[in-house]
Amino acid sequence: MKKYNFNAGPSILPDVAIENAAKAIADFNGTGLSILSISHRTKEFEEVVESAKSLLRELLGIPDNYKIFFVGGGASTQFFHIPANFLAKKAGYVNTGVWTKKAIKEAKHYGEVEIVASSEDRNFTYIPKNFTIPTDIDYLYICTNNTIYGTEYKTDIDSPVPLIADMSSDILSRPVDVSKYALIYGGAQKNLAPAGVTFVIVRDDMLQRVVRDLPSMVNVNTHVDNNSMFNTPPVFPIYVMNETLKWLKSIGGVEEIYRRNLEKANLLYDEIDRNSLFRPTAVKEDRSLMNICFVMAEGKEDLAPEFLEFAKSRGMVGIKGHRLVGGFRASCYNACPKESVEALIACMREFESLKK
Ligand SMILES: Cc1ncc(COP(=O)(O)O)c(C=O)c1O
Repeated sequence: MKKYNFNAGPSILPDVAIENAAKAIADFNGTGLSILSISHRTKEFEEVVESAKSLLRELLGIPDNYKIFFVGGGASTQFFHIPANFLAKKAGYVNTGVWTKKAIKEAKHYGEVEIVASSEDRNFTYIPKNFTIPTDIDYLYICTNNTIYGTEYKTDIDSPVPLIADMSSDILSRPVDVSKYALIYGGAQKNLAPAGVTFVIVRDDMLQRVVRDLPSMVNVNTHVDNNSMFNTPPVFPIYVMNETLKWLKSIGGVEEIYRRNLEKANLLYDEIDRNSLFRPTAVKEDRSLMNICFVMAEGKEDLAPEFLEFAKSRGMVGIKGHRLVGGFRASCYNACPKESVEALIACMREFESLKK
C-alpha cells in the first residue's frame, strides 16, 4: 500500500536526496568508498560541507556578515549553548510551548530569564503579538514554528536586542529576513536531513559577545573557527542535507516551496474548517504551514481512535497528535507532496460520509 508520510520529525525527505544517499552509501562520488566510511577530513567531504553552506546561504539569502556551521547534539544542545555563550545577566524568552519551555529551563542555569510574552494562558494556541521588548536583556529568544501546537510566526520581529530563533521546524519553508536575527539555529531532521545534525547561522558581531570562558565544544567560536570540523561532524546527515538543498534549488528555491507550502496548508485547513467531524486547534492567523493540528469536533471526540485506525488503513503515517495536545497533526514539510495532502483530505471526507 502507498504510504503518505506526515511524520513530525525525523520526517519526509525528497526522493532524489534519498536515492542519491543510497548511491553514496554504496560509492561516494566515485571514491570507491561508502559515505559511511570516509574520513571527514577528505577533500571530497570538505566540498560537501562547503556546498551545503553556500546553498543554505543562497537559498535563505544569508548576508555576508553571518557564519554558518553544522554540529551534532540536536537543537536541545543549543538550548544551553546559547545562554552559555550569550546570557551574561538576563535574557528575554517568548514562551510558545514545550520547545521554548525547555530552552528557558536551560537558560536559567546561566542567568535570569524574563518571560517577555507567553501564550500558555490558552494552551499555546496562538503567537503572542504586540509585546514590548525590554532593552536591558542580552537577547530575545523565540521559536518561529511550534511543532507540537501548529503555530507559527508570520513576520520577522523587529528587536532592539539581538534576536535568536529556533527554526527547527520551519527553516527554508518560507522567506525569512535573516538580517533581523542575530542567530538562527535548528535541528535539521525536518526540512533538511535525517536526524543528527544541527545548523547554526550566526551574525559576526555575536562572535565577540561570548560572555564567559567556556569548554571548547560549547563556545560558538570553536565551530566557526574550525569550519564545522572541530570534532567529527555528522558526516552522513550533512551529505543528505546537501542533497536536499540541491533539490530545493532545482525546484525554484524558497519562493517556490513557499508557494507549494501555502497551497498544501490552505487545502488542508479548508477541509478541517469544512468537515463537520473536525476542528482546528490554532487560531487562524497563526496557523503553521508545516504542522497542521486538528482535533475531533465537539461531541465527536469518541471517534478519534477510530479515525486514526481508518487513516492508517488508507496509508496515512504519523498523523497522531503529540501526546501533550492529543488529536491529530499532519506535518507537511517541504518534501511532503500535494498528493499526500489530497489523500488525507479524501480520507477525512470518506470518514465523514461513513459517519453521517
Ligand atoms: C521547534 C523544535 N525545537 C527543538 C526541538 C528539539 O530538537 P532535537 O531533538 O534536535 O534536540 C524540536 C524537536 O522536534 C522542535 O520541533
